[in-house]
Amino acid sequence: MFINLEQLPADPILGLIKQFGEDPREHKIDLGVGVYKDNQGLTPVMQAVQHAEQKLFADQTTKSYIGPLGVPQFNEAMKLLVLGQRHSVLNEQRIALVQTPGGCGALRVAAELIKRSHGAPTIWVSEPTWGNHTPLLGDSGLNIRSYPYYDFGKHRIQFDAMLSCLNQVPAGDFVLFHGSCHNPSGADLTREQWQQLVQLVQRRGFTPFIDLAYQGFGEGTEQDAYGFRLMAEQLPECVLAVSCSKNFGLYRERVGALAVTTETVASAQAVTTHIARVVRGIYSMPPSHGALIVAQILADPNLYKVWQEELSQMRQRLLHTRANLVEQLRQRGLGDRFDFLAREKGMFSFLGLKPEQVVALAEQFAIHMLGNSRISVCGLNGANIDYFAEALAAVSAR
Ligand SMILES: Cc1ncc(COP(=O)(O)O)c(C=O)c1O
Repeated sequence: MFINLEQLPADPILGLIKQFGEDPREHKIDLGVGVYKDNQGLTPVMQAVQHAEQKLFADQTTKSYIGPLGVPQFNEAMKLLVLGQRHSVLNEQRIALVQTPGGCGALRVAAELIKRSHGAPTIWVSEPTWGNHTPLLGDSGLNIRSYPYYDFGKHRIQFDAMLSCLNQVPAGDFVLFHGSCHNPSGADLTREQWQQLVQLVQRRGFTPFIDLAYQGFGEGTEQDAYGFRLMAEQLPECVLAVSCSKNFGLYRERVGALAVTTETVASAQAVTTHIARVVRGIYSMPPSHGALIVAQILADPNLYKVWQEELSQMRQRLLHTRANLVEQLRQRGLGDRFDFLAREKGMFSFLGLKPEQVVALAEQFAIHMLGNSRISVCGLNGANIDYFAEALAAVSAR
């Protein structure tokens, strides 16, 4: 019967990887890349991870099963990382938190949990949102609708339009927010906007679902959790998908967590049993290696310090690259046209180019990005940023 399956069209990101790989020019630049790269264009294993991993290898005594909820010490440490030391939810133990295979695993398990408890409600995602949200949430049977978020012309959040759309969302639906470093726009909600959203949720009664895939990449691990902490504090229930892929550089180890904050302790316990049931039916249990590394780093004050310093360097590099690019473009006569790049956070931004300008950058300058001109800032470094600014100025003049 598989003979009946027809080949699917290529995924745009995979298509871009192929296009970049086939470009023979030595000075080519990859701005599609979805992982952090340092100024040498590398994605090295973090020092804190190396130390934790060595200790892990020396100390481990078994490879026995860990169970559907994952590594217990990881789960406890992650509660502190996402909520902070003194959050009311933590004191009152109104949280279910379960280790998952990456942030993707958390999103998918959350969707299955929502289906068990709410039937097939609608989940509202920002327009635009990360491309994988639709398959991860929609393939479980949730209905996906979108709310206005990013104004591509003005390069800022269209907050009024967002509010008026969310004002129509009924109780029982879910609304997905990006905790920090919005992917793909880099445009983040301000603290005031998060506060306004909390009031709106209180009026409407829907459930917020926060995707926190870049904690520490925006302003810091504490600051980037502001939206989630506020919502968890002020609202009866909140869903959180966390990824440790970027901030611990553990991409291929598949480390993440799904958390649900609840009204009561009993509800948190009940939710945990349902998550365990969902996990049993999909992948039985998550891998332990990466979670043990994260648990080790978060438990050891010296390793924690090393990790925070490395994370800070990554964050500073992103901020510096953004500011440097704006400056370079200003020097090439582009005025304030690209100033938004320095206001946006994290790895991604839209340049706002026309499709033919994107094609010209690829064909004439060997600079590769998605067709909608979304770039990954990490693709730029000291060796290529001048060349990129020159090329962008050239195609922008056309
Ligand atoms: C917005 C967002 N959510 C979730 C994830 C999930 O990441 P992972 O499954 O690799 O932990 C990513 C990764 O790129 C992301 O950008």
